[in-house]
Amino acid sequence: RLLFKCELLQRTGSFKIRGALNAVRSLVEDSERAGRELPRAVVTHSSGNHGQALACAAQAEGIPAYIVVPRTAPQCKQDAIRAYGATLVPCDPNDKSRAETASAVVQETGGVLVHPNQEPAVIAGQGTIALEVLEQAPQVNAVVVPVGGGGMVAGIAVAIKALRPDVKVFAAEPSNVDDCYQSKVRGELTPNLHPRDTIADAVKTNIGPNTWPIIRDLVDAVLTVSEEEIKRATWLVWERMKLLIEPTAGVGLAAVLSEQFQAVPWDVQNVCIVLCGGNVDLRSLTWLTDLSGKAE
Ligand SMILES: Cc1ncc(COP(=O)(O)O)c(C=O)c1O
Repeated sequence: RLLFKCELLQRTGSFKIRGALNAVRSLVEDSERAGRELPRAVVTHSSGNHGQALACAAQAEGIPAYIVVPRTAPQCKQDAIRAYGATLVPCDPNDKSRAETASAVVQETGGVLVHPNQEPAVIAGQGTIALEVLEQAPQVNAVVVPVGGGGMVAGIAVAIKALRPDVKVFAAEPSNVDDCYQSKVRGELTPNLHPRDTIADAVKTNIGPNTWPIIRDLVDAVLTVSEEEIKRATWLVWERMKLLIEPTAGVGLAAVLSEQFQAVPWDVQNVCIVLCGGNVDLRSLTWLTDLSGKAE
């Protein structure tokens, strides 16, 4: 039995608002407690969804936001970041350029970096997905979570294993960017230095030093899926569920429909899949025509 946690319906169109709000609220509360002024700005680098979420959270507190975005990020995500009043700073589409550009912006603005997936307040915020799943569906036996930098799966794993250690936590990842899978296999953090392209643009990034130990110790397994499996799963959700997920959210369903999942050694009857986002760039849907010949 499949259950779906519909994070695509969140404000800003993804689960990212949870971590961003927790981080910005924590900064504001820390400043108030210490009698200091609010941070001059918040800064981040993001493939788009954390950028939108941070821009939205910062706007609510009246704090300027600077978002470093890969030039290749979907146009709809870039437009939304601007619409939330943030300043967009373009960078090259790799982790090094993202990190270096963001540090330069921190230097220039005197702002505070809110890392999209390694910041503890962000990881904790994403963990509230699990608190709600356990409350809404106590019969759940497994949760399946797309993994990019690992903030979402780490937050969920911490909450689940503290409250219901019997519930299995699966990370789901495109085979083209399988650093989380490789890290689990090798037992050490193994970043993918030359990631291939993936339709699941939001999970192209690598897991990092804060999320890796949590994933190593608390995530039960990592499942990998092909680009075609992601496209088919995304198509299926659109057609049957009438939910406009972005392809990254198709990664979780693709994993559950895969042969690997049928072979997992645990009895998981009630599986919750996190449909993590819905920010689809409708202009970029050319892949639909590639798949349509094979859809029968
Ligand atoms: C829609 C969506 N799903 C999944 C992820 C991956 O989250 P994390 O980097 O916390 O693993 C992201 C990150 O940008 C995202 O935007």
